[in-house]
Amino acid sequence: MDLNALDIQNEAIMTLMHDKLHLAPLSTTSPSQMLDVCTGRGIWAIDIADQYPDLTVKGVDWAPVQTSWVPPNLHFETDDMRRPWECGSSYDYIHTRATIYMGCWEDFKKDVVEQAFDNLRPGGWFESQEIGRLVMCDDGTLPADAPLATWARYLNTAASSQHRPRDVAGQMLEWYKEVGFVDVQQHVFKMPIGTWAADPRLRTTGAFWLASLDARLEGLSLRIFNETFGWEPAHVAVCCASSVITVGMDENTKSRRSEFAWLRQTEPQEPYYSRLHRVLCGLWAQANAG
Ligand SMILES: C[S@@+](CC[C@H](N)C(=O)[O-])C[C@H]1O[C@@H](n2cnc3c(N)ncnc32)[C@H](O)[C@@H]1O
Repeated sequence: MDLNALDIQNEAIMTLMHDKLHLAPLSTTSPSQMLDVCTGRGIWAIDIADQYPDLTVKGVDWAPVQTSWVPPNLHFETDDMRRPWECGSSYDYIHTRATIYMGCWEDFKKDVVEQAFDNLRPGGWFESQEIGRLVMCDDGTLPADAPLATWARYLNTAASSQHRPRDVAGQMLEWYKEVGFVDVQQHVFKMPIGTWAADPRLRTTGAFWLASLDARLEGLSLRIFNETFGWEPAHVAVCCASSVITVGMDENTKSRRSEFAWLRQTEPQEPYYSRLHRVLCGLWAQANAG
């Protein structure tokens, strides 16, 4: 994991979101316990703990890469979040960010959405700030064979063959509803790649995002491209370098590339009934299968 890339990625997302750490209306629930799933460096967790000094925040990641200088109301734990969560329950707010496109999950719905539902207090919020498709274009001006588009296709093919889909954030809305969350809301942000945007804030966002792609493309690709396509490191390096370099060079398409980030806020009402409903549905499906 490239830690600098995570810092730059944080800058890009925060600039895109007008420096808002969350979109869920936390003031409606007077929260006291928060959980950040796959906290990474813990940058978001530190900022939210600073913003809400009366709350207790827990950040969990399986890699102990967090900084030791943290606000007194923040604690980090090391754990594999695909397993049943041992980091406690009764949270008022649970958060994920930038986990799906990193290929963290085989099954985001089962590993994260269901566990979040079971570990939230009634009325609590679950918010996912996830990147949708890594490379996309609104108006069809990005050629299918542009290096960055080609790289993204390879990544998605490789990720699917390894059962770690990376472009499934668009399905979150349905998963949340299926699990029993209510008041599900979605905000879509477009992340520019590069400095093409006229708006100064988006230009800064795009510069940060391109820099973070530059810092992590090769790391994201090396192992998975080798395992799936048998590519040697030099081949992967050339593919990644040309993907990033051409973003700045291609006049025809540079102003058209964009990316979605997805944000969801959900409020479970009567979660116990919903959970019971899920269990009954499971039993019903088993009985019918037999
Ligand atoms: C792209 S980073 C996102 C970090 C952070 N959420 C942020 O926005 O800065 C993804 C993180 O997920 C962690 N991760 C991946 N799979 C995990 C798992 N099964 N359990 C816990 N952490 C995991 C990685 O170690 C990495 O720190």
